[in-house]
Amino acid sequence: MFFDSHAHYDDKAFDADREQLLGSFPEKGIGYVVNAGASFASSERSLELADKYPFLYAAVGIHPEHAQTLDEKGLEWLRSRLSDPKVAAVGEIGLDYYWDEPDPLIQIEAFRLQLDLAKEAGKPVIIHSRDAARDTLETMRTEYGKDRPAVIHCFSYSKETAREFLDLGYLIGIGGVVTFKNARKVKEAVEYIPLDRLLLETDCPYLAPDPFRGRRNSSLNLPLVAARIAALKGLTEEEVEEATFRNAKRFYGID
Ligand code: NI
Repeated sequence: MFFDSHAHYDDKAFDADREQLLGSFPEKGIGYVVNAGASFASSERSLELADKYPFLYAAVGIHPEHAQTLDEKGLEWLRSRLSDPKVAAVGEIGLDYYWDEPDPLIQIEAFRLQLDLAKEAGKPVIIHSRDAARDTLETMRTEYGKDRPAVIHCFSYSKETAREFLDLGYLIGIGGVVTFKNARKVKEAVEYIPLDRLLLETDCPYLAPDPFRGRRNSSLNLPLVAARIAALKGLTEEEVEEATFRNAKRFYGID
């Protein structure tokens, strides 16, 4: 069975067939899904999906692109949701310097506040980090700490940077990008990262693996990602499937 550690089934890309698609997962080998929030609205929708599907858990959090929307009241709302047993994590939170906005100082402040929240509630964090490796490492080191549960989702940095995150005790999330022809850096990182530190993810509807690149992604494509990781690491697909399933259950505290 597969565990999709990061998906966005609240996205409008699934409006036409969400029920049918999600309803098919148990018979198609998708054991669990964590649906990540990115804004207040999508965190709310994540919770609704978690209420409806036993195999789907929610993460609630404010993505760096919405960092400026996190005020005192919003923080209280997030805090109040963390006692829900179907809330598996705080996320996705982090830093994204690809665009000029919001200002990095605003992003770092929202990131710190949400790391504190997760620490206080004893929940794992799902980290979004793009073009911001240094500040992500620094903020997590000082604000969150070593050997606490965190996954660097859709990992896009080098093997050397992977080592720094691994040294802090964090996990690495790998999705469709590892199947892309031009993804040399991520492939090198995957060869290097120990199997017990890897999570499988889709980030769907985005980042469909080859040969479906550019199309709508879903958890049903996870076997393609597992096959690619297995080939890179000289393992069988089953070994990757089973290990990442175990890793994700342990990480999210799901029995
Ligand atoms: Ni995402």
